[in-house]
Amino acid sequence: MTTTATQPYQFRNTSTHLQPLQEMLDPITIDDLQHVGVGTGHNALDVGAGAGSVARHLRERVGPTGAVSAVDLDTTFLSPSDELNVYQRDLRTERLPVKASSLDVITARCVLAYLPTRARLLEQMVTALRPGGRLVLGDIVYARTTVPYAPTAGDADLIVRIVHTILDVLAERGVDLHWGEKVPGLLLDVGLNEVRTRWVAQTWAGGSPGCRLYADHARQLREQLLAANLSAGDLDRFSDMMTDPTVLVRGYEFAATTARKPH
Ligand SMILES: C[S@@+](CC[C@H](N)C(=O)[O-])C[C@H]1O[C@@H](n2cnc3c(N)ncnc32)[C@H](O)[C@@H]1O
Repeated sequence: MTTTATQPYQFRNTSTHLQPLQEMLDPITIDDLQHVGVGTGHNALDVGAGAGSVARHLRERVGPTGAVSAVDLDTTFLSPSDELNVYQRDLRTERLPVKASSLDVITARCVLAYLPTRARLLEQMVTALRPGGRLVLGDIVYARTTVPYAPTAGDADLIVRIVHTILDVLAERGVDLHWGEKVPGLLLDVGLNEVRTRWVAQTWAGGSPGCRLYADHARQLREQLLAANLSAGDLDRFSDMMTDPTVLVRGYEFAATTARKPH
């Protein structure tokens, strides 16, 4: 099923959107899955699975005796032939397709911050975990952008302006760019333990997955950026710089949280 009958979210799911995100964040998520000890026979769920790299990684970890479900508004990139149970759901209006206390691990990466129902979904996830089950969460959070290198000072200013306008547009469209910082406290409030958050940010060179993601965001939000007083020339220059390997920018900051439901 595709999103044609549903209202899209802030971005369109395309390979130029999801692929760089996966390349950039998979090492962090895989490290977190290792940290919490997902293994053979586990029952796992990936919420907002996108192009499915996390779900497929979970599939490998849990082996033939485990099970992995993947839920998304847009299931175009999720194939049941990858031995995933794929569910198309609009999580703004529908519940997660899971039973209480049934899951060993639930992942949700770069999803909850986008959804107005994020707090309710977090509650549903906690309820769906069995005692001892783990949450592996992560979202991009607001941070100031800096540019260690661009061809000119004007170029560096332009990159900062565009990245911050992207963040402003997302916030105006309902994305909670502080959600990732609220998550650890919310999880402690509902009784989870072993709560750990890492904030990860690093430089991205032009052409890297991160700069490809910046370029994709600028392309997808072009109309809003033009309405925010950026010119077509500014956006073209930004797009060129995001492929220039000499350019170095501070990437989006990602808050990655793991937690455990007590016995
Ligand atoms: C930024 S992508 C992240 C994809 C994946 N979790 C990853 O990190 O590679 C956000 C995902 O959330 C999904 N999504 C957005 N709104 C949704 C909704 N209302 N219900 C279910 N999924 C939604 C999108 O279709 C997309 O696959």
